[in-house]
Amino acid sequence: MKLYYGNMLESRIGGSGIAIGAIEALEGRIKSIDAELKRNRAEGQLQFMDLPYEPIDSIVNIANEAQECENFLLIGIGGSSWGSIALHTALSHPYHNLLPRDKRCGRPRFFVLDNCDPDEFAGLMDTIELDRTLINVVSKSGATPEPMANFLKCYELMKRYTGRYAEHFVITTDEGGVLMRLAAEEGFPCLVIPKGVGGRFSVFSPAGLFPAAVLGIDIKEMLSGARHMDSICKKPDLWQNPAYMFAALEYLAMTVKGYNISVLMPYSRRLRHLVNWYMQLWAESLGKEQTRDNKTVNTGSTPLKSIGATDQHSLLQLFNEGPFDKTITFIRVENYANKVELPPVLHGYNELEYLGGHTMEELMKTEQFATQLALTNHRRPNKTIEIPEIDAFSMGELMYFFEVVVTVMGELLNVNAFDQPGVEEGKMLTYALMGRSGYEHKIGEIMREEGEFIEWQ
Ligand code: PA5
Repeated sequence: MKLYYGNMLESRIGGSGIAIGAIEALEGRIKSIDAELKRNRAEGQLQFMDLPYEPIDSIVNIANEAQECENFLLIGIGGSSWGSIALHTALSHPYHNLLPRDKRCGRPRFFVLDNCDPDEFAGLMDTIELDRTLINVVSKSGATPEPMANFLKCYELMKRYTGRYAEHFVITTDEGGVLMRLAAEEGFPCLVIPKGVGGRFSVFSPAGLFPAAVLGIDIKEMLSGARHMDSICKKPDLWQNPAYMFAALEYLAMTVKGYNISVLMPYSRRLRHLVNWYMQLWAESLGKEQTRDNKTVNTGSTPLKSIGATDQHSLLQLFNEGPFDKTITFIRVENYANKVELPPVLHGYNELEYLGGHTMEELMKTEQFATQLALTNHRRPNKTIEIPEIDAFSMGELMYFFEVVVTVMGELLNVNAFDQPGVEEGKMLTYALMGRSGYEHKIGEIMREEGEFIEWQ
């Protein structure tokens, strides 16, 4: 992998770029953060960093049995679903569910319920047969309303319509929580998300690894990619460490330049959900009201998804000519899995003839380069992560890379990247409104804001 960062610099794009001196000035701080992180990790406070070194035998064993099912349904939300969705989209066949079983390597079809949308739920129940479905309920807390609503309804339906319903569930949750108790009573197999690992940092735990293994993704390769990235991210010098450089540039873009939007733009549709995973990781970790020492800062930058080349025809106009408020990070893929040759069939049509004899891969890579050039010409800060190809190893590398970037960003911004009080608040108000006991006091805080409206027919 490579991180090209020249187009972020003042020397390349003028005053909208970051001065090399500003990066140099951050070297000392990055070195202390590096030392601090290493200390914290040694004391077991950054457990997510060690996940790629954990044994995976129980995950593989349960996954081997689970592959037999026709449908694999993941119930989870946020950090408990995005990692699996990202891995499946990147590494399985793009039309996995539509293929006959032998063409999807004998693996089950994959479905996700990551909302509590009644229409989607009912639609899915119309589509899959429950007695041919294995359900993986992933919830670290076991108390999140959306996945628990999906679970409760599936549990009821399974009990009513299938004989040995316990065989249709695998639970992935926290040690000692409500779901683990239930799993023990019901005899559901249970995989554990370690206590110290937060949802959005859990892709290398059973939360991400089990669904990936059921779907035939090479999780050993993925973990070696993550371990390889770990070895690179241990370098204390930001000029040698891509995650530290990435974090330093984004931090300076935010705090010195006031750029408060961070765009991630892979040139591959297979990486579209990696961006959703990254957006959640970035937004929930860095969007904070207070610093660690309780100063109100309301900090954070807004992550934005953009898919090349599709969004060249949607967002690029804004990126090139709109306000100077964003950085753009491309993910460039060196080798695509397929080569599609474009035939020179239309002679004499100047507008189309030029495509003949090229490949779609060439066009995709050219479009990425052209967009990068256009942005640079417009003095827009941009950088590029280049990966050799999209495989389990590079996905492990990329996901570990972004986890380290976000951790270091949290340190630079002096916020706790591992909590999410803004999410918890919404959960608690939902509990109160839905009548969960112990949350009655929250009702007093709830104001109905529906006083003013316009109605039309
Ligand atoms: O990253 C996080 O901590 C959150 O996004 C959680 O993953 C999300 O709220 C779901 O929580 P749980 O796994 O407890 O159901």
